[in-house]
Amino acid sequence: MPDELIEATRSFLNKEGRCEIVARLLRSMSLALLVLFCVVPQAFGESIGSVKTFQDMGNGIELNCTNAYLSIELLTPEIARVRVGVKRPGAENRYLEDYSYAIREDLPKEKVNYRVKEEGKSILLSSDALDVVITKNPVLVAFLDKQGFRLSEDFSPMSWVPAPEGHSVTCTKYLSYGEHFYGLGEKTGPLDKRRSKVKMWNTGEYGDDIRSDPLYQSHPFFIGLKEYKAYGIFFDNTYRTHFDMGHTYEDRYIFRSEGGELDYYFIAGPLVKDVVKRFSFLTGYMPLPPIWALGHMICRWSYYPETEVMDIATRARAEKIPLDVIWLDIHYMDGYRCFTWDKSRFPDLPGMVSKLHAMGYRVVSMINPGIKADPKYFVFKEGIQRDAFVKYPHGGLYIGKVWPKECVFPDFTRPDVQEWWGSLYKGLLDAGIDGFWNDMNEPDIFHTKTSTMDDSAVFHDFGLLTSHKKIHNIYGSYMAKSTLEGISQLMGNRRAFVLSRAGYSGLQRYAASWTGDNTSNFDHLRLQIPMFLNLGLSGTPFIGSDIGGFFKSANAELLVRWYQASALVPLMREHNCRGEYDQEPWVHGDPYKSFIRKYVNMRYRLLPYLYTSFYEASKDGSPIMRPLLYEYQQDSNTFTLDDQFLIGRHILVAPVLNEGSIGRLVYLPKGNWYDYETKDVLEGNRSIYYDAPLDMLPVFIREGAIVPTKELGQYTTEKSVETITLEVYPLQTRESSTSFLYMDDGITKNTPFVLFKFEMERTGNKVCIEFNSTGAFDGIKSFDLKVYSKRPRKITFDGKETEFSYEDGAVYLHTAKDIKLVELIY
Ligand code: GLC
Repeated sequence: MPDELIEATRSFLNKEGRCEIVARLLRSMSLALLVLFCVVPQAFGESIGSVKTFQDMGNGIELNCTNAYLSIELLTPEIARVRVGVKRPGAENRYLEDYSYAIREDLPKEKVNYRVKEEGKSILLSSDALDVVITKNPVLVAFLDKQGFRLSEDFSPMSWVPAPEGHSVTCTKYLSYGEHFYGLGEKTGPLDKRRSKVKMWNTGEYGDDIRSDPLYQSHPFFIGLKEYKAYGIFFDNTYRTHFDMGHTYEDRYIFRSEGGELDYYFIAGPLVKDVVKRFSFLTGYMPLPPIWALGHMICRWSYYPETEVMDIATRARAEKIPLDVIWLDIHYMDGYRCFTWDKSRFPDLPGMVSKLHAMGYRVVSMINPGIKADPKYFVFKEGIQRDAFVKYPHGGLYIGKVWPKECVFPDFTRPDVQEWWGSLYKGLLDAGIDGFWNDMNEPDIFHTKTSTMDDSAVFHDFGLLTSHKKIHNIYGSYMAKSTLEGISQLMGNRRAFVLSRAGYSGLQRYAASWTGDNTSNFDHLRLQIPMFLNLGLSGTPFIGSDIGGFFKSANAELLVRWYQASALVPLMREHNCRGEYDQEPWVHGDPYKSFIRKYVNMRYRLLPYLYTSFYEASKDGSPIMRPLLYEYQQDSNTFTLDDQFLIGRHILVAPVLNEGSIGRLVYLPKGNWYDYETKDVLEGNRSIYYDAPLDMLPVFIREGAIVPTKELGQYTTEKSVETITLEVYPLQTRESSTSFLYMDDGITKNTPFVLFKFEMERTGNKVCIEFNSTGAFDGIKSFDLKVYSKRPRKITFDGKETEFSYEDGAVYLHTAKDIKLVELIY
């Protein structure tokens, strides 16, 4: 025993020592009592309490409750914002700073009609669409529709425990038998999120596990579907948040945060469509991308040098597989330095890009947030001069390792940094690069326990100087915002395109996204479908995955099936990791490359239809790729269907997603459906077994659809839109239907457009199609009509009988674009 220890033991055993022991005991007891009385209740949480008073705020009400203020603001008759401001002695404001990284800054303000009534034990706030009932003691909030149906209600009072920043808040709501959940963004697992438990914390994920959570993006928004009625909840909290959707308890679901404030938006339906559109109204719409971004794209980590890029370009044209975009991954940079290029690999980048442009290609290149900490590198130097990089509280630079080793990271929460970052793209734009790919922006940092920045890193956050804990989930979105706004300014009236890996709700305003580093296997292929569908329902319509899988390499069967499944997915990009076998569509030779060509060709013919769906998404947030329940909410067979989907309103795609399968069951909802391949009419409201050998993607068209198509080109703008072919699928059982065609020049921002509306009606032996259009775009001169039906007795154009030909089950007609009425009499 060391001498000091012997001495200490001796002194404890003498009288003074014993006194010391007693004194210490008393001291620790009083500390324990202090903890018991002051800290423990806090740690176990505090809840809102009961209503003391309340007041009308002009846009809703505010309730003064025992432990917090509760404000319920009506943004529209269907959208209520609920905020809880925990009472903090001495605090100047009742609530935390009112700034949202998700809600549009230009959100139109509406004066909503509402009434407030105190009714015994509750207070009623009602708009024309929604009743909010607040029980006074304890405070519980319920949302009812105008038929008195309880859409959603608190299971227990809203509560919290103190957190290092704000409070860790909890909201618990009743879960009813048969309730389903959708949304929650980029999550693995099935379409219906009931019974799942997920976390929102943007995370770079590598590879294999098909259950991984969280992934790259955070969308704290879900849709509840209860007895055929839908509502939505957007928990606008950027800290790490947790959702337990009936995973732990069968009678309640819970959402909670690790900081900030309880701030959520309740969105009434009753249609899922309404909820998605209203959520998009809050968080904004995807700008209409340049049309080339709807084309087929090919990527590799990484294509270099120039000869390799040119080989890909020449090969695609020789193989006659339409292709629009070639992507440059990190190796085009000079030693992973963003905004530079490697002069030995690409001695004449502008020259190469202009050769590619001449062949009809566009080029997109990667930019990461990690800036190499290299005093000789202009971006690092400029950033240091501007004090643009994230720091620690003591003022030292935050340094993290990514591809170029030690890196610094721009603070995208600062408007001047956003502007500076945007301006850095000038060099690459001048070299002819057409679009940008923001990757690793969770931010993903190597060799750290958390795979990201230290929690203590400080961000400007509009002067609040908050930590990484609050900013982490929006870092990717704000990098994409800085990129999009910067390049938009530099590109004048040309449309910009940005792809981002990370994001938060609202990302669609700035970028398209893809589902990150998946793996080449059928499990990952299957996983993509519900993930895309839930991203679309979460307001993010422009999505896709690495076709063929990123890690490992796709064999011929998997590559063909992945291409088929992606044939009409909004973003169609094949991508592959370095070190794996090549995965371009031609690598497995024939017949596989012909199978792939068939469906890339289908996409290019259907471009006017696809572009019209993009237009719709850009106007009101309608997902381009939709689960069947989106259009058939009254059909409970669709509630868990997640291996087939709709593109726009009329096209149903049911890809084969299992290895070795040469057919599958397809559910056709009520009505009739045309087999796209054979044009046979199939009765709906049942499942059919569809033979689908490897060359076949099952696609069905809803009766009544008018599907605009164009001549096949090797890139999106190769063939003009002068003559659009309207594929007409006459109504069989329904009486009327509406279809649209949107078109413009596909490249410029403020540009003339044309929007055709086709209304089909069936009465007795007659099918009429009414044409209406608005807009000044005059690129479309005429229509070819291809009507899949038996031979009509007579056809009239605007009342005058016209000639037609009939061949192989289709009627062929040609008409000027200003036709008003086509009648087919059988
Ligand atoms: C990340 C991206 C991947 C890219 C790679 C190299 O893993 O997700 O798509 O190829 O980085 O830049």
